[in-house]
Formats: sequence, C-alpha cells, structure tokens
Amino acid sequence: MSKTAELKIDGKTYTLPIIEGSENEQAFDVSKLRGDTSVITLDPGFKNTGSTKSAITFLDGEKGILRYRGYSIEELAEKSSFIEVAYLLIYGNLPNPEELQAFQNDIKYHTLVHEDIKKILEGFPSNAHPMGVLSSLVTSLTAFYPESLDPNRSSEAVNMSIIRIIAKMPTFAAWAYKNEVGHPVNYPDNKLDYCSNFLKMMFALPAADYDADPVIANALDKLLILHADHEQNCSTSTVRIVGSSQASLYASISAGINALWGPLHGGANSAVIEMLENIKKDGGDTKKWMAKAKDKEDPFRLMGFGHRVYKNFDPRAKIIKKAADEVLDKLGVKDPVLDIAKGLEYEALNDEYFVERKLYPNVDFYSGIIYRALGIPVDMFTVMFALGRLPGWIAQWKEMRENREPIGRPRQIYVGENVRPYTPVDKR
Ligand code: MLT
Repeated sequence: MSKTAELKIDGKTYTLPIIEGSENEQAFDVSKLRGDTSVITLDPGFKNTGSTKSAITFLDGEKGILRYRGYSIEELAEKSSFIEVAYLLIYGNLPNPEELQAFQNDIKYHTLVHEDIKKILEGFPSNAHPMGVLSSLVTSLTAFYPESLDPNRSSEAVNMSIIRIIAKMPTFAAWAYKNEVGHPVNYPDNKLDYCSNFLKMMFALPAADYDADPVIANALDKLLILHADHEQNCSTSTVRIVGSSQASLYASISAGINALWGPLHGGANSAVIEMLENIKKDGGDTKKWMAKAKDKEDPFRLMGFGHRVYKNFDPRAKIIKKAADEVLDKLGVKDPVLDIAKGLEYEALNDEYFVERKLYPNVDFYSGIIYRALGIPVDMFTVMFALGRLPGWIAQWKEMRENREPIGRPRQIYVGENVRPYTPVDKR
C-alpha cells in the first residue's frame, strides 16, 4: 500500500500520492494538483520542490553525504580519475579497462577544434570574461556539428556530441585564458592526460618547454571530480529546462555555463579570493573582518562559508581542504592571502556565532585557495568549475532526454493589476 498525504482545501479533502526514493526521501506528487483542485504550489527558488526523479547523484545535506551513482565522493576523489568519474556519471557504471581505454581514446581523438573557431575567439577583446568566451565557443559547436542540433538522433550520434564537448572543453577553456592574456593559443597534446593537457594549453609559451607538475595535475583532477555533479543545482536545473524544450546538448550546456557564471553559484570561488585580497589590502586583520561579518549593520558579506543544501559541512570542502594543505606544502607556496584564509577558517570553526549558524568554509572557499596556488587566475576559477561540472550537466541532460521528461513550464500566482480599459494618451 503506497503512502499518501491529505490536503484539505475549502472543506474538501484531496489525497496526494507520496513517492519514496531509493534513499528513503519522500515527496508529495502534485503533478495532478492543479487539474484536481485548480490550486498550485508556490515555492520561490524551488527549495522545497523536486523537479525530477534522478539516479545520478545523491546528497544528504544533514549528514554531509555526496555520492555519484552510489559511489561516495570520498572514495572517488581518492581512488578514481576525472575521466573515469565522467564515464560513471554519464553511462551509469564504472568502466571496465576496455571501456575506459576506448572512452579515453575517443576523447583524445576529438580534442582539436576547427581552425575557424580561432576566428570566433579572435573576435573577443582581451577584456572579455572567460565565461562569456567559453559559453560562446560551446554554442559555436552547433555550427560546426549541425547534426548535434537534433537531440532525437540516434544514441550513437548523441554520444558523438557528448564525446566532442568533453574533449573540446579544456581546449576552449585554455583558449579563453590565452585570449585574455594576449598569448597565442596552444593546441592539444594528446600524449598527455586530461589535466596535464589542459595545463599545458593554459600555460605553455612559444619557444619554452612546459611540463605540467604532476602534483598540480593530480590536484586539478581531484578538484574536477569534486565538482563533477551536485544534483539539481542552479546550473544543472538550467541545463535540464533548456534541454526539455529539445534544444541541443550544446545549447543546453552553454546555458548551464551562463547560469554557473553568477556570483551566487559558480562565481563564489572567485568572490572568495576577491574578499581575501580586500582583507589583505586592509591590513589582513581577520578578527576585524569576521566581526564585520557578524555586524548586521555592516554591508560586508562573508563569501565561501555555509551552503544552501549542506547543514553541517560540505563533504567536498573536507577533501579539498586536505588537498589544499598537501599541494601548498608540496609546492612550497607562501602567500599572505592564503594565510588570511587560514585565519578566517580558524575564526569560523571556533567562534560560536559561525558554528551555530553553520557558517563553515565550503567547497568554494577552499577551491579558490587551491586554484590560486595552482597558478590559475581568479576569473578562470568559474571556468574551472564549469570544466568539472560538464559531465554532470551531460549526465543530467541525457537522463532527462532518455526519460522523455516533459518541457519545463512552471506556473505562477499573478499579483498584478486587475482588468482595466485602455485610455488614449491624451486622456491619462
Ligand atoms: C554546486 O556544487 O552546484 C554548488 O554547491 C551549489 C548547489 O549545489 O546548490
């Protein structure tokens, strides 16, 4: 006997089915509510509303649990690789050796982008934000691969579109950076692994050898794993709703990149470093700034602390904090901004005000610190987030398509003017 809930409206009782997921989460199914009652639910920001049933990522905000297809983020970050995690998210299971090799080979084969894409890149001024360049270059794939426009093509054709964007995203990301610094672009080097190839495209300069430090490449691979998916966050929900209109994978991913760009979402890691830089300019007194964070009259807002879903701690932050300490130690990085970060972290973890408000350092706090230590420039931090989130966006888009989910079309409660007659301008 499935569970139900009762809703009483104007003296009439309606029965709503309750669905339960594989981790015992429960939801009222209101998909027939408006038809039965003419009443709708209202939930700005959808914080209490499920948009779909998904088998990709499970997170428990109370217990600080995050799993991709049932595997804990802790195990994957320690034992897997970003490419293997991308395969897991997109196809549902960890690959066997042949599947992994074939996936890696497919990706390596498609890292090069059409030479005409350089003309699009050259059209951007050097002050163009890399996220705007990235979303534009991703959208340009619809022109170079017009067969990608139809998401209803064969699964082989859709998979080709998937392989191409995973392969080309690091190239686009590195080229967006080169455009910003006015350096010539580097072409992919398929002898290298995914992260080493990206780092070489980012930092290699003409007539100078460049070999990515394995410590940096491994840290980056771990960071990308930790950002690979996060259920129905803002940018993933954007990818799903754009894809629900049967827009192409590339149009949906480009929309997701633009949603991630916002400082309340993927832009938070850049905002953390900007905050730390400001504190450094002001003399680096972390106690003073944490006092400002507590002062309701003070406009200063603490970036990189707390999370809208995790109520006690962000499991990814714990892993990144450990990686940050290891990388900074191995690289011998001495940076006053990082010392300020440690000061803020200490205050947040030991001051009752922050502890009781669950304002603990989150994934954006530590990812900003580690990207800085890896030599990634601040306005590329959100691009790094997009690089990591790409397989999650793809997996969620693919699941939505395979489940033949309907077009997303939320309703509203109108609070504007009631009907009124038009009056000619000379009568107003
Ligand atoms: C994410 O990983 O997307 C961020 O933590 C934001 C979120 O999940 O809402």
